[in-house]
Amino acid sequence: MRKQYLSPALFHHFKDPVMIVDGSMQYLFDEKGRRYLDAFAGIVTVSVGHCHPEVNRAVIEQTQRLQHTTTIYLHNQVAEYAKELTDRMPGNLKVAYFVNSGSEANDMAMMMARLYTHNHDIITLRNAYHGLSEATMGLLGQHTWKCAVPQGAGVHHALNPNPYRGAWGNDGRRYAADVADLIQSATPGKVAAFIHETIQGVGGAVPLADGYLPAVYKMVREAGGVCIADEVQTGFGRTGSAYWGFENQGVVPDIVTLAKGIGNGLPLAAVVTTPEIAAVLAARLHFNTYGGNPVSCAAGRAVLRVIDQEGLQANCAAVGGHLVEELRRLQGKHDIIGDVRGRGLMVGIELVKDRTSKEPAVAEVAQVFERCKDLGVLLGKGGLHGNAFRIKPPMCWTTADVDFLVAVLDQALSEL
Ligand SMILES: Cc1ncc(COP(=O)(O)O)c(C=O)c1O
Repeated sequence: MRKQYLSPALFHHFKDPVMIVDGSMQYLFDEKGRRYLDAFAGIVTVSVGHCHPEVNRAVIEQTQRLQHTTTIYLHNQVAEYAKELTDRMPGNLKVAYFVNSGSEANDMAMMMARLYTHNHDIITLRNAYHGLSEATMGLLGQHTWKCAVPQGAGVHHALNPNPYRGAWGNDGRRYAADVADLIQSATPGKVAAFIHETIQGVGGAVPLADGYLPAVYKMVREAGGVCIADEVQTGFGRTGSAYWGFENQGVVPDIVTLAKGIGNGLPLAAVVTTPEIAAVLAARLHFNTYGGNPVSCAAGRAVLRVIDQEGLQANCAAVGGHLVEELRRLQGKHDIIGDVRGRGLMVGIELVKDRTSKEPAVAEVAQVFERCKDLGVLLGKGGLHGNAFRIKPPMCWTTADVDFLVAVLDQALSEL
């Protein structure tokens, strides 16, 4: 039925597609009741755990009372949620717009930046992923997702400050110089925005080289632009060392976009910005039918509570630290592991045929990926070359889960 009635562009993980019908915290179950450890969290979306009882309770209670009216009427959930969310933001990031997906949030951030600055050009990064709407497709830095349609007017792709594959290793300031050059050579010298993930997610959990963001933010602001942090994958404590990914480089953006983990699977996304930037949209009426609906907001509020109550940011730091340590140990054993990287529970592993040439080991990744599934772990996969594993589980993972994953990976790698 899926083949017959759904888009032929859909893809599934695994040669023998897995059917998932139940979930509980860090576990998924197929239609025969077989349990898998989830290392990918519905593509980094199930932040606090599958079917978390507190989130479920909030959703059910709100659904039974009132599901939908839109923001043309007053409702407490959306207002209280906006306060609770922006209370967790630094600086003057105090106004929230609610939408339903990361692509919508980034569309809106681009528009706000252009209206606010009266400039048009936007700098993005190679290997970036910001969504698949027509506007965000232009921001993408990966051929895999780009369609041959007009896209990206005024968008320029800077060199990716990739510490593993980039020309200047982990020296963020040298990559930042490319942004200055790009502004001078490809734009009128003025830009609307610079947009970035704080660890590139779909691109293979690639961190930005040290010192990159402070240097680029300064240049972009000097060129009249605003800085947009896409925290769709990295927000809400996932990186462990900070609640928001951008805090790891000591910067405060002008606009932050949020989706995925914000709602633990409910369709919820947000743009958070300063009152000054938010005001530009007040020149016209703004409306989004489902944006800020009571049920999604109830879920969003429950997610914030659970992260605090269960200390999930600290858990990401502790469990993620153990994960990276164990994966580095595995790297010492298996030459095919070229790179282990990431922060907290946002981790990538790149397989290469040779550590000097760094030739991507694509077929090997595919084989290990399938084998780990057979052994009971559902990994994520990605990267421009398709040779990276993405480990971004629900944030309730334990060190025992890490040990199981590492044992499974070790076995699958040994069988290559
Ligand atoms: C960093 C980032 N931004 C934006 C998006 C787009 O979100 P959505 O698929 O909800 O439109 C994604 C989706 O994977 C993402 O990873």
